Amino acid sequence: MAKVGLRGLRILKTFHLITACLWLGGAVGLTLMLFGMPLPETDGQLYGYNLSCKFIDDFVIIPGAIGCLLTGLLISLLTQWGFFKHRWIIIKWVLTVFCILFGTFFLSPTVNGQPRISAEEGLMALANVDYVANYHSNLKGGIFQLVSIVFMIWLSVFKPLKGRGKPLIPKTAELPD
Ligand code: HEM
Repeated sequence: MAKVGLRGLRILKTFHLITACLWLGGAVGLTLMLFGMPLPETDGQLYGYNLSCKFIDDFVIIPGAIGCLLTGLLISLLTQWGFFKHRWIIIKWVLTVFCILFGTFFLSPTVNGQPRISAEEGLMALANVDYVANYHSNLKGGIFQLVSIVFMIWLSVFKPLKGRGKPLIPKTAELPD
């Protein structure tokens, strides 16, 4: 497949970074909301709070994650970086796909379930077993997701494990006895 030049790579990287910022920003925002929000005092406040969490998930985290995946795909396809030339890129692939599947099938359902419960039960939702379980899953899963994103940013900047299967520094010839 034809490769893009330096200008093309820079354009792709700009979009890659914007989407990475969206994903990280959304994940930080949602985790802080789960950790640090004062307890709501009215039914409406609790519902609004749950709706805001869902809004951040739907309109910041999910577009950021999908955008990162798509721009990562384009960088691998259209530039010399490729898919499997470097172990740090392989790790990013595996972790990105894992985080997106984990988010889709485990985290998002817990965020999406909350507004329905608080709309029906108001503040009594805080004592609802499903609501509390969703909250704890969301907090633990969200922290895992956040640590993974930060790790991927570290990987991208330091680019350790360059190349595959061959040592970076050639072994020195063994000295004769
Ligand atoms: C589909 C998976 C991904 C692939 C294949 C991928 C691939 C790449 C490649 C090849 C670069 C180097 C571009 C260059 O310097 O010319 C890069 C840069 C970068 N990526 Fe990704 N990436 C992926 C996912 C992610 C994710 C999930 C994040 C974080 C949320 C991320 C954050 C970054 C950052 C911050 C840089 C810039 C590093 C720097 O210039 O120092 N990437 N990515």
